[in-house]
Amino acid sequence: MSYRHALAALTAAAGLVLASVPASAATAAGGHGPGRTLGELAAATHRYFGSATDNPEFTDQAYLDILGREFGSTTAGNALKWYATEPQQGVFDFTQGDQVLDFARRHHMSFRAHTLVWHNQLPDWLTSGTWTADQLRAILKNHITQEARHYRGKVYSWDVVNEAFNEDGTYRDTLFYRTLGPGYIADALRWAHEADPHAKLYLNDYNLEAIGPKSDAYYALVKSLKAQHVPIDGVGFQGHLALQYGYPDTLRQNLQRFADLGLDVAITELDVRMILPADAEKLATQAKWYADVTKACLAVRRCVGITVWDYTDKYSWIPAVFTGEGAALPYDENLTPKPAYYAIRDALKAAGR
Ligand code: XIL
Repeated sequence: MSYRHALAALTAAAGLVLASVPASAATAAGGHGPGRTLGELAAATHRYFGSATDNPEFTDQAYLDILGREFGSTTAGNALKWYATEPQQGVFDFTQGDQVLDFARRHHMSFRAHTLVWHNQLPDWLTSGTWTADQLRAILKNHITQEARHYRGKVYSWDVVNEAFNEDGTYRDTLFYRTLGPGYIADALRWAHEADPHAKLYLNDYNLEAIGPKSDAYYALVKSLKAQHVPIDGVGFQGHLALQYGYPDTLRQNLQRFADLGLDVAITELDVRMILPADAEKLATQAKWYADVTKACLAVRRCVGITVWDYTDKYSWIPAVFTGEGAALPYDENLTPKPAYYAIRDALKAAGR
């Protein structure tokens, strides 16, 4: 029974009129029940439940109210990417990242920093240049050092390298891999650690949820990085799931084998998209998947938390990238909780008891 339903039952029994407590007031006062936000329920299991956010959304007060109230962690969806933070070579701009970080601090949310090295959303000066290995190594080191130093002591974790592997477990052919070889990953981790020794350092990727060639490649890499004492703390499983491709049944087992290497694991960009239009059946399946991912994380002691890739369909990245797909997040476009929201909440509640 939801908080409002419980409230309705109580007030009806007492002969009171529920209409005197508008939905918005009930929600604003308690976030679907006092002490019952996703963030609070996750915290009771020593985990966080977070949402990504993005700077254009900072004009939407109703959106921000829920973000600040319901979630215990946030990630800047774009603000810390290379194109945003070093738009010209050697010229750094942290205004957008700082805006998200300030919001997080004001709302006592932890902050996952995303991302230092990625092949997408790079500035033109970097992608259009031709660089020797020495030049690119210096550029990469400076970028990582400046950015991680700016946020030193203020972020919970860094996604140091994002999406380094192909589906078949071979290295992705990026500017960095092509020019520097596979050692760029260990270098990036070492430079990030030097710049911010307390941030948890992650490798992060999609389609990593199930055991298979891609997650096997990460498993081998992080095992060898650990053996060489390269500073690595965790692996991020993005969790961009799609109903039409089936649920990754080996998720829990996969999280556990990485945890057994002495690493933290996290679900970092969870969304569950579907082919539109949404209907009750698809939303019910989606809710079950959200619950199952939550339970998988809760079953693994070193799974430190879950982040949804924004919380409302109003601001999901899916429709712009996957034509005809969407409805991927736990709140709908009107900021109303969907079945997925209640399924996550029930899974967290059951674990906290
Ligand atoms: C996405 C953002 O959400 C979009 O706004 C942007 O246009 C493209 O990138 N994997 C990642 C994220 O690691 O950085 C991506 O974020 C989604 C896929």
